[in-house]
Amino acid sequence: MLYDFFKFMAFKMDAEKAHELSIKALSNFPLAMADAFGGDIEDLKKYQVKLNSMNWSFPVGLAAGLDKNAKAINFFSRIPFGAVEVGTVTPLAQIGNDRPRLFRYIEEESLRNCMGFNNDGAEKILRNIQASDRVGKILGVNLGKNKTTSAEEAHLDYLKLFKTFKDHCDYLVINVSSPNTPGLRDLQRHESMREIFESLEDERKTCRTPLFIKISPDLPLDSLEGIVSLASEFKLSGIIATNTTIMEDRGIGGVSGKLLTEKGRLVRERLLEIMKDTPELDFIGVGGISNFSDVWDFWKSGGKACQIYSSFIFQGPSVLQDIKSGIDEKLKVNDLNNLEELFKNIKDCH
Ligand SMILES: Cc1cc2nc3c(=O)[nH]c(=O)nc-3n(C[C@H](O)[C@H](O)[C@H](O)COP(=O)(O)O)c2cc1C
Repeated sequence: MLYDFFKFMAFKMDAEKAHELSIKALSNFPLAMADAFGGDIEDLKKYQVKLNSMNWSFPVGLAAGLDKNAKAINFFSRIPFGAVEVGTVTPLAQIGNDRPRLFRYIEEESLRNCMGFNNDGAEKILRNIQASDRVGKILGVNLGKNKTTSAEEAHLDYLKLFKTFKDHCDYLVINVSSPNTPGLRDLQRHESMREIFESLEDERKTCRTPLFIKISPDLPLDSLEGIVSLASEFKLSGIIATNTTIMEDRGIGGVSGKLLTEKGRLVRERLLEIMKDTPELDFIGVGGISNFSDVWDFWKSGGKACQIYSSFIFQGPSVLQDIKSGIDEKLKVNDLNNLEELFKNIKDCH
């Protein structure tokens, strides 16, 4: 109800303006009232997802880009997200691309953005993280290069960011998949990724912070094997797939939400198939997940933890409640107590 009213007002405004006002409101939101948005998960064990690199209290996390500047961690940690990912953070603050740069497709429950990593920069975002109280919730920080940093020097940006955030979060993400920073997606070439991972190697020896790579849904399916093998060679914690997709008929930028569901699903299924040979790698699924049925598809193909962005905009926190109800129902009909049991028996579950 509360969200329906909020959405009614917000959707009358320009999409980015509404977003800015929402983050401002949420950064000052009375935390005792977070229960009105779904509250916390009362039975931690029931919904817990155990990955190799970390445990989430709920299988759905907040995807990067919604709280770019880590201003509303306190709020997002108090609703049932299993993890909250902030960023993308670049070393220096940058304003991003010209406005308008965020568009809604209301009927299709989808968004298109060409934001271009607008953010307050590493120093300020680190201060926000340090000042936050996330009540034990998992926090991820998503890292990107500045627009003015050349491809040859990109690895230096990632190294700088890695050093800045490694002791202040539960996992880090190398983002080489946004379509809105010129040349960024070229860093998904194996030589470029190798250069980034090599430059982080020494630093990674001194800490155990899990490191993920986030990839695009527009990569050819036959390139995914190479990415998995690089992730495994450099002992990354895993892969996050996918970022937004380019749909030229819609305009510049990246499309997310229901328009991405099918493509995202195909990429995730292919990756999960390949990753059967690398059980040491974790996988976080994102892209067009908007209800329990999407989560169930993901689980049936071998995934466990996933993230949402667009469906949170269109449905609000009730999307988490609906997924929770879907889980409760599945556990009941399959006579199981918790998600760990469900994942062990997923093939036989109906
Ligand atoms: C407005 C907007 C901004 C985004 N910014 C980022 C970002 O800064 N870094 C990032 O890795 N992904 C970013 N994303 C991508 C999301 O994290 C997610 O991968 C994508 O939206 C697909 O998930 P969804 O269909 O649930 O929205 C952004 C998405 C949107 C809609």
